Amino acid sequence: MGSSLAQKNILLGISGGIAAYKAAYLTRIFKVEGADVWVCMTEAGTKFITPLTMETLSEREVLLRTFPENRTVGTRHITVAEWADAVVIAPATADILARMAGGIADDLLTTLLISTVAPVFVAPAMNTRMYNHPATRENMAILRDRGVRFIDPGVGDLACNTIGVGRMAEPRQIASVLQQYFSTAGQLKSRKIIVTAGPTQEPIDPVRYLGNRSSGKMGYRLAQAAADRGAAVVLISGPSAEPEPAGVEIVRVKTAAEMKAAVDEQFDGADAVVMAAAVADYRPTKPADRKIKKKTTTLQIDLEPTDDILRGLGSRKKSQVLVGFALETEKVVEQAQRKLKEKNLDLIVANDPGLPGAGFGSETNIATIIDREGQTEETGKLSKRALAEMIIDRIVALLPPRQGSSGA
Ligand SMILES: Cc1cc2nc3c(=O)[nH]c(=O)nc-3n(C[C@H](O)[C@H](O)[C@H](O)COP(=O)(O)O)c2cc1C
Repeated sequence: MGSSLAQKNILLGISGGIAAYKAAYLTRIFKVEGADVWVCMTEAGTKFITPLTMETLSEREVLLRTFPENRTVGTRHITVAEWADAVVIAPATADILARMAGGIADDLLTTLLISTVAPVFVAPAMNTRMYNHPATRENMAILRDRGVRFIDPGVGDLACNTIGVGRMAEPRQIASVLQQYFSTAGQLKSRKIIVTAGPTQEPIDPVRYLGNRSSGKMGYRLAQAAADRGAAVVLISGPSAEPEPAGVEIVRVKTAAEMKAAVDEQFDGADAVVMAAAVADYRPTKPADRKIKKKTTTLQIDLEPTDDILRGLGSRKKSQVLVGFALETEKVVEQAQRKLKEKNLDLIVANDPGLPGAGFGSETNIATIIDREGQTEETGKLSKRALAEMIIDRIVALLPPRQGSSGA
């Protein structure tokens, strides 16, 4: 099978960061994979790597100025913006993120960015303080909201002789994000996928609640992975500090009852539901109207079970694919298999949060995916995004063909 990058037109933007040297290798990878690469550099970008190097590697004239001297180029920013199947900014400086977020078009690269409808991928690269600055954080949130896809920087040695977050993703990693995008883009077009994420909070009184340690990361990665493949995604999220995934409709809830109501409301038109939320099993029977005063005696709070959302969906489901998560600390696979059968699920993802590199808050997970036939697949330790891709692959395989179409 050929590379998914073959014959794809990639506009590679290079802004003025020290990681610009990596853009040369990235261009080579794209070219070897069969893509056509057109490079556009900011003025600062040309201080770090020469246009000659980029021109030689890309085999195309490098785009530098909106108004080149001695030449009439007309509306080239529109022609190039339309030519691109994808735009990649690597490295992306704090400055270019700010200009993109502000909709500024004061050089050729930012003018191209505001003229394109192609998916935009950015690989930020900067010193940790620049990366963590509230302005950069806000700019990234604005861009994510608008559908820009981030290839997050890693933690490591930085050129400023410090160690921290801000090191640009490696060229191979950037290329594989693009490969993944092109190989699966549109796979879930016209499919509706519901993803639940995060914890629930069950009130004890107006200021206290019963909660759990779920961060929402797994569900948010799943929502993004499904949206990247063209699905209409509704993310029903308990309280979570995760940035909102691009191109996803988000419904915010607090309690298990609110989450159930939101899922039930969305269920009928859905093709698949992935319940990654850590929904409370119990809630206080009668939350107090006023703050419970501190006393020296013990306090008893009566709890009642919440409704089991998945079980309810399992009994209602027609052709929908239902995916559950089973967080267990003992007999993980056995318990998960039991849940899958009892709740009429199609897949269950079992994990033990006690393992290092798995569970709440962690960027990685270790899981076992179990299907209705009892087949188990051990994932090993991998990023939550990679696990999300595996789960979405399995959902794609389980979806019944659309009426009148020959495949998923
Ligand atoms: C040696 C040197 C290294 C730099 N490295 C970075 C960097 O890695 N990331 C960044 O955001 N800015 C970096 N800067 C600052 C940018 O080059 C500067 O903000 C510039 O205005 C960015 O312009 P541009 O976004 O149009 O390319 C660096 C500056 C110098 C002098």
